[in-house]
Amino acid sequence: MVKLMLHITKILERFAAKHPFIYRMISLYYKRLVKEEIALANIQSTDRVLCIGGGPCPFSGILLHEYTGAHVTIIDNDVRCVRISRELIRKLGYADSIDILYSDGNDISPEDYNVIHMAVQVSPMEQVFCHLKQGCRFGSKILVRLPKQRLTNFYSISDRSVFHACCGRVVHNWRNIDNTALFIKS
Ligand SMILES: C[S@@+](CC[C@H](N)C(=O)[O-])C[C@H]1O[C@@H](n2cnc3c(N)ncnc32)[C@H](O)[C@@H]1O
Repeated sequence: MVKLMLHITKILERFAAKHPFIYRMISLYYKRLVKEEIALANIQSTDRVLCIGGGPCPFSGILLHEYTGAHVTIIDNDVRCVRISRELIRKLGYADSIDILYSDGNDISPEDYNVIHMAVQVSPMEQVFCHLKQGCRFGSKILVRLPKQRLTNFYSISDRSVFHACCGRVVHNWRNIDNTALFIKS
């Protein structure tokens, strides 16, 4: 189920990356979500943002940059996604403000970033979160998108208790994402 969901999302995002109309339609889904996450974490233009799991069309990373002006680095562990999204970023004229890297959330060194954002399809969710939390600097913020309880089988999350001790969360209605949880390393 997890792989099927990821596969379908990537197909849709590949279309979005190539067709401006589809891009605009799907980005509607993300706009409010990202605005609420920016407010939750109080993201500023001076922040260094790292997004884990950008996919072929990294809507969240793009909107995070557009709404805040912050520099954003987006990683993905699928080389095809990296190739397609780099091309999209170049076409959008964001090559100086958004970097796309081929890397896994479990391997990346997070100490250069003070805001880290995890997509809902990151896998394995708990392991990547613990790696990032351990490696980031004190005061760094981590935003984690968590799926609705009834959709758990479609995502790579097995132990939600890891995410209970957050500093705050924003609940999203009418979405596959139940909430975004905010953690601040202390
Ligand atoms: C399809 S995208 C969805 C993100 C969406 N485009 C957005 O803007 O929020 C999810 C991506 O996460 C990537 N991914 C999953 N686990 C990962 C990990 N551990 N490290 C890096 N990328 C990962 C997948 O390859 C996939 O491309």
